[in-house]
Amino acid sequence: MYIVMVASECAPVAKVGGLGDVVFGLSRELEIRGNAVEIILPKYDCMRYDQIWGLQVVYEDLWVTWFNRFIHCTVFFGYVHGRKCFFIEPHSEENFFNRGTFYGFPDEHMRFAFFTKAAMEFMLKSGKRPDVIHSHDWQTALVAPLLYEIYAHHGMANQRVCHTIHNFKHQGIAGANVLWATGLGRPEYYFDLARMGDDFNRTAINFMKGAIVYSNFITTVSPRHAWEVRHTEQGFGLGHLLHMHQAKFGGVLNGLDYEMWNPESDPHLPAHYGIATLEHKYDDKRALRERLWLADNYKPIVAYVGRLDQQKGVHLIRHAIYYSLANGAQFVLLGSSPESSINGQFLHIKAELNDNPDCHLEIGYNEELAHLIYAGADIIVVPSMYEPCGLTQMIGLRYGTVPVVRAVGGLADTVFDRDFSDKPPAERNGYVFHQTDELALETALGRAIGLWQHHPDDFRELIENGMRCDFSWNHPGEHYLRIYEYIRHR
Ligand code: ADP
Ligand code: GLC
Repeated sequence: MYIVMVASECAPVAKVGGLGDVVFGLSRELEIRGNAVEIILPKYDCMRYDQIWGLQVVYEDLWVTWFNRFIHCTVFFGYVHGRKCFFIEPHSEENFFNRGTFYGFPDEHMRFAFFTKAAMEFMLKSGKRPDVIHSHDWQTALVAPLLYEIYAHHGMANQRVCHTIHNFKHQGIAGANVLWATGLGRPEYYFDLARMGDDFNRTAINFMKGAIVYSNFITTVSPRHAWEVRHTEQGFGLGHLLHMHQAKFGGVLNGLDYEMWNPESDPHLPAHYGIATLEHKYDDKRALRERLWLADNYKPIVAYVGRLDQQKGVHLIRHAIYYSLANGAQFVLLGSSPESSINGQFLHIKAELNDNPDCHLEIGYNEELAHLIYAGADIIVVPSMYEPCGLTQMIGLRYGTVPVVRAVGGLADTVFDRDFSDKPPAERNGYVFHQTDELALETALGRAIGLWQHHPDDFRELIENGMRCDFSWNHPGEHYLRIYEYIRHR
């Protein structure tokens, strides 16, 4: 089958969070299974160009209509760790993708509506006729509306769309200007609640709604989250619509790219290890301590790696730091937030704990350090308020770092409590809590730290249970192919 991914991220060239990992990992799995996969991305100035091989211009003059003018684009091609990627570079005064960061601008809707339109135009003009176009999140949610309202009438009638929602909170809500810009026009038509209309006042469209209504299939990134978005507030207002479209909606648990995330060969690690050679994990622990100037005490290291967003349970992350330090553990944090107030909170804690040799907070984004933390830490906390899938707990499991998670979304689908799960003991791989208050976190984190301190053999067994789990792309890859096959013949 021929599949084109249209996305705003792809690891490791353009990655902000798990979306980048998923676009890369799923594409690789689909290729291993004999499919042709291409990825279309914006050509951001802030990409990691050192991770692209053979970058060259492949389409010199792509003209994209935008409002009532043409924007000239150049399309580049290059390999990202073996994946075939096209990068679209517009030349216009808006300077859409030359802004130093991936996200966070007032004209965000225009930036990604333009990219999506340009990606469709590129496929049309360059003769690409994939069986399935796979779009991701609000940024490229207009693929399906554009396909069915415009491009299907210009030679792309046989293409099908699978759309994956990684985060329901960000939906892409914009006024009529997006419709005029992309050539969809007719606001009164699209403002209809049965199409992309966002509100009763008929003043805005919702990109994500467009994807749900127009796509041939919609997925979210874990079975538990697929239930949550229809039955709880986690659908952020889209639950009813998903009920209406539930025949073409489902949850597919993300995989983890087991080649990119492999403690036996990870190039970022000073020492490599697997289940049988777990003692080398402690060389990475030592390296982590040296790198972050942590004391060489007989203590477990508790870690947090991820965006510092309300979604991630900021108050519980903060509490985990103090609780760990007060209970005989060390704490390492790597994360950042686009919100200066949240960054400020953590910078404040960092300053306060500056002289504490058991603690290091690193505010920023650092791929290499993230790998060393996953390997060097003993326990990883993921206390999210909601979590569509979550990859950091899966990476923890793969790296022998015991996850302590809140029972939501993909966290509940992947982590099973050592003491209270209904799974057989050999399948229990971490600690789980339910409520959103500090005490709830303590009940799980306290047990994890206690097991490390007082029952090292049991702790090792828990690590091994986690390392034996298979959260690779093997099963999800097969699942997505079944979905593609299904929509291809409709
Ligand atoms: P989300 O997509 O909601 O941010 P996930 O758990 O799905 O959360 O994926 C997060 C991914 O981003 C992981 O690969 C994680 O290692 C990475 N990551 C997040 N924050 C950082 C950071 N500050 N530095 C390095 N890697 C990070
Ligand atoms: C989103 C979600 C996260 C998920 C990731 C990849 O960013 O917040 O839970 O793992 O996408 O699907």
